[in-house]
Amino acid sequence: MESDPHIGEILLTEEQLSTRIKELGAQLSRDYEGDAPLLVCVLRGAYVFLTDLARATDLPVQIDFIAVSSYGSSTRTSGVVRLVKDLEVDLTDRHVILVEDIVDSGLTLRYLRQLLEDRKPASLEVCALLVREGARSDDVRYVGFPIPPDFVVGYGLDVAQHYRELDSIRVFEPAE
Ligand code: PRP
Repeated sequence: MESDPHIGEILLTEEQLSTRIKELGAQLSRDYEGDAPLLVCVLRGAYVFLTDLARATDLPVQIDFIAVSSYGSSTRTSGVVRLVKDLEVDLTDRHVILVEDIVDSGLTLRYLRQLLEDRKPASLEVCALLVREGARSDDVRYVGFPIPPDFVVGYGLDVAQHYRELDSIRVFEPAE
């Protein structure tokens, strides 16, 4: 990987990620004490974060998956969010935590919030590992890290389905 010219500096190390995710897990454990919240993983990027976050809580969480697409194989959003895979669990009266890897323009989140709120959950909060500085994030209750505008990969985040397996979050350097 070190020989890949597209992989730039490490923005967040494995240790920084692990420490912050343990803090988020502890915060969720306090806030949802006595409840069994449903963690909704937004595929594909959030799958790595979700597995670590779920294990960082003391809660009897349940898990479901939803998939949307707005970026295709490009590094720029198409501006249109498409539902690719729906949830299987009924959200009525459930405490739902939407788990995202990154809130960038906020477009995906707006779409998902509307979609899930229409299903009348008891509550709906968002837990995002990364939130782009300047993004509208007032409705993201749990934020891992604010990040600068660099395009980033690793720890679940991809470019054209590559680099999701990296342990750290790194800057992606596009070709000149
Ligand atoms: C990424 C990410 C978020 C979304 C955020 O998904 O996982 O869902 O983009 O961008 P936005 O705030 O500008 O809407 P992507 O479409 O790249 O799919 P992936 O999760 O499968 O990589």
